[in-house]
Amino acid sequence: MKRVTVPAVRRRKGAEPLVMLTAYTVRTAQILDPHCDMLLVGDSLGQVIYGLPSTVPVTLEMMAAHGAAVVRGSYHALVVVDMPFGSYEASPEKAFESAAWLLKQTGAAAVKLEGGTAMASTVAFLSERGIPVMGHVGLTPQAVNALGGYGARGRSEAEVRKIVGDAQAVAEAGAFSVVIEGVVEPIAIEITRTIDVPTIGIGASAQCDGQVLVAEDMLGMFERTPKFVKRYGDMAGYIGERAASFAEEVRSRAFPGEEQTYAPKA
Ligand code: KIV
Ligand code: NA
Repeated sequence: MKRVTVPAVRRRKGAEPLVMLTAYTVRTAQILDPHCDMLLVGDSLGQVIYGLPSTVPVTLEMMAAHGAAVVRGSYHALVVVDMPFGSYEASPEKAFESAAWLLKQTGAAAVKLEGGTAMASTVAFLSERGIPVMGHVGLTPQAVNALGGYGARGRSEAEVRKIVGDAQAVAEAGAFSVVIEGVVEPIAIEITRTIDVPTIGIGASAQCDGQVLVAEDMLGMFERTPKFVKRYGDMAGYIGERAASFAEEVRSRAFPGEEQTYAPKA
């Protein structure tokens, strides 16, 4: 199966919605791949996999290791790897060096970075040099220390104009798609109508050109459940119940049974 390409994603503007989920590991990638247009190796792995307090401490090395695993586990979806905090903000040159290293290490086709107007020149620098960039505006978790929390953005008119301007700036700079996270719905609708590349919503609007969720959130595998997460399952409950069954059988010596034990040669 041929992998989804960046131009193919671009062409989906205004067409059938794009499906994107996060994946951090090879087995999850294998399971999600047939159902997704894109897999995101999100820096949310900081909290979800490593128990970190935010995405701020996530490193390029962590993104490279998980990105490579997701590429190895997928055949169909376009794999996008998040650039972690501190690896791209200082200058377009620094961003290029980090992004090129990530693509070489992982085999992924694109990177995602947070920010709007301030990152536009960086988005242009990378895009013009062969590195496709997905933008990310609205609630940008790497800025948690500046924003003061994870509340929805766009509650004031000034903030609305700022976020719409951010999305337009990265789109005009050459981003092939833009994630819109945690904003009041009219912002997501206005951005989707005014930029010519697909918008991917998370806590945004059903009118976006696609949707993304953290797979662990959607599966009920992680305790944090923001308003915008819909739980399609209870993986934590499922795993807990199976662990309880195993524990009971170990304690009663029902496991291992005859089928799981080696008999000596007759
Ligand atoms: O890191 C992540 O998982 C993300 C998505 C939630 C958009 O950036
Ligand atoms: Na992210």
